[in-house]
Amino acid sequence: MNNQTYWDKRYSQGRLWGDNPCPSAVRSFPHFTRLGVKNVLVPGCGYGRNAVYFALQGFDVTAFDLSNVSILHAKALAAEQSVDVPFFQGDLFDIDFLRGKKFDAVYLSYVIHLFLKDQRESLLKRMTEWLKDNGILTFSCISTSDPHNYGFGLEVEPNTFVKHESKPLHFFTGDELKKLLEPDYRILEQKIHTQTENDPSGESEELQLWFVAAEKCTK
Ligand SMILES: C[S@@+](CC[C@H](N)C(=O)[O-])C[C@H]1O[C@@H](n2cnc3c(N)ncnc32)[C@H](O)[C@@H]1O
Repeated sequence: MNNQTYWDKRYSQGRLWGDNPCPSAVRSFPHFTRLGVKNVLVPGCGYGRNAVYFALQGFDVTAFDLSNVSILHAKALAAEQSVDVPFFQGDLFDIDFLRGKKFDAVYLSYVIHLFLKDQRESLLKRMTEWLKDNGILTFSCISTSDPHNYGFGLEVEPNTFVKHESKPLHFFTGDELKKLLEPDYRILEQKIHTQTENDPSGESEELQLWFVAAEKCTK
């Protein structure tokens, strides 16, 4: 099953984790206001819970996801909340998508750990290209300190495990995040936080996630 089919199938169950924004979106807000952010790009936006939150706070938001089904849910959520967000179907790895566009902020929730090392690096490069100089990148990702999820399945790369559906999950250490960001960014905040996700089957999962806010340095 390809990646798009996988996510379309998952989102056919609806707005999987509820409509509230992630803690990392709420944590991003004071950074955005302090730095005078006006527009925000939300790649891998899913069904728009965070993009809609940012629009409700008054930011000019652009958002996209690989899954057509999630984009339909996102448009419905924005309509329910009476906000105007352009939601697009698009692939993070399609280098022509949003080529030449620049944003004050890029927010990536719970996406970068879904890929192997080479793809994570090219994903970060794309985020950097989409940011204006001195723009801010905020994101969340899973951490090696997550006792309920780290270490399960087959380790295919260091700290990267495949548990089900052939999907890798990479668990980040703090030092690794610092090294990854070092060449292009100044880290403003890097902290572990807990995110509780409730899924449609009624199950709830406690995740230990990194929240990172980093400013793109002018070269
Ligand atoms: C765990 S979900 C997180 C969704 C959303 N960021 C949130 O926090 O609600 C990962 C998302 O990444 C999207 N995704 C995966 N690969 C992608 C790609 N190559 N391009 C764009 N989106 C992608 C999936 O469709 C899915 O919506």
